[in-house]
Amino acid sequence: MADFDLVETDDVESPGDEWEEIDVADTEADRIARERDREFSEFRERIKDADQFKVEDSVFDDATYGALYKLVQDGYIQAFGGPLSTGKEANVYQALGGSAAMDIVEGETATDPEVAVKVYRINASDFRDMRGYLEGDPRFEGIGSDKSEVVKAWVRKEFANLSRARSAGVRVPTPVAVERNVMVMEFIGTETGRAKRLSEVEIENPQTAYEVIREYMRRLQDAGLVHGDFSEYNVVFHEGQLVVIDLGQAVTVHHPNSREFLERDCHNVASFFRRQGMDVADEDLLAFVTGENDEGEAD
Ligand SMILES: Nc1ncnc2c1ncn2[C@@H]1O[C@H](COP(=O)(O)OP(=O)(O)O)[C@@H](O)[C@H]1O
Ligand SMILES: [Mg+2]
Repeated sequence: MADFDLVETDDVESPGDEWEEIDVADTEADRIARERDREFSEFRERIKDADQFKVEDSVFDDATYGALYKLVQDGYIQAFGGPLSTGKEANVYQALGGSAAMDIVEGETATDPEVAVKVYRINASDFRDMRGYLEGDPRFEGIGSDKSEVVKAWVRKEFANLSRARSAGVRVPTPVAVERNVMVMEFIGTETGRAKRLSEVEIENPQTAYEVIREYMRRLQDAGLVHGDFSEYNVVFHEGQLVVIDLGQAVTVHHPNSREFLERDCHNVASFFRRQGMDVADEDLLAFVTGENDEGEAD
């Protein structure tokens, strides 16, 4: 790994307290699944039979196929590729983006962009844990306990978090579209595959990597967000940049547990860099991120 370029910041907006309302009402995907016209039914059978969807545990409900169908109809997805990851709550697939995705993902070429499609499983047993992150986040007041509503809110939160992080100058996958329990985003990787996680690469210059990550943590904090699962597993290395991923669980600084999450993030990141031979204390990172060191300095 060589050097790491920090991405430019836009003007950082006010902290993430927009109190935006998140609509978890019946989606178009639910309607499509209910009506099951012929075209949708054919789509569903084709997708069900495709090898990449035969991964264990990825038996999707009809409304999930409805969401995938809608994303194809709307021009965000053209063709599905292989799975990038099958996680506890979500599977991530590579896909070829459609014309609507091209307008959003800025590629260097004029060809259709690759996208990553994150599909949350409504029936994942961990969905209850999601509640803890949503409760206390002012953006999600009034979310019920209905499984599919919790998951829908979760996916919308991840999308909103990515947008907010991006405008705060944190390199994240550009969010492209969200439909029910499915999110489409910029694919981070090359023809040879997805970008490697920090946990999978040998870091030549841990000091520079640390400085970039700590700056991104500070920018997130300034934008009113705490990642909540910051670690070497949720940062990937791509074309000289470090890219922060997996912002589903990120909460605003108004969340009652945000401080605890931030301290945990600092601990995870600092211990990773200690294992790289660096001398970094959790407290120093925390102080940097919160700006507690900056007293007296001009802001
Ligand atoms: N936008 C993306 N581009 C390329 N690979 C991705 C992208 N998003 C996720 N991945 C891959 O999928 C894995 C799981 O995604 P992540 O968002 O971290 O979900 P999980 O909650 O399952 O950890 C990541 O570690 C990464 O390897
Ligand atoms: Mg992850």
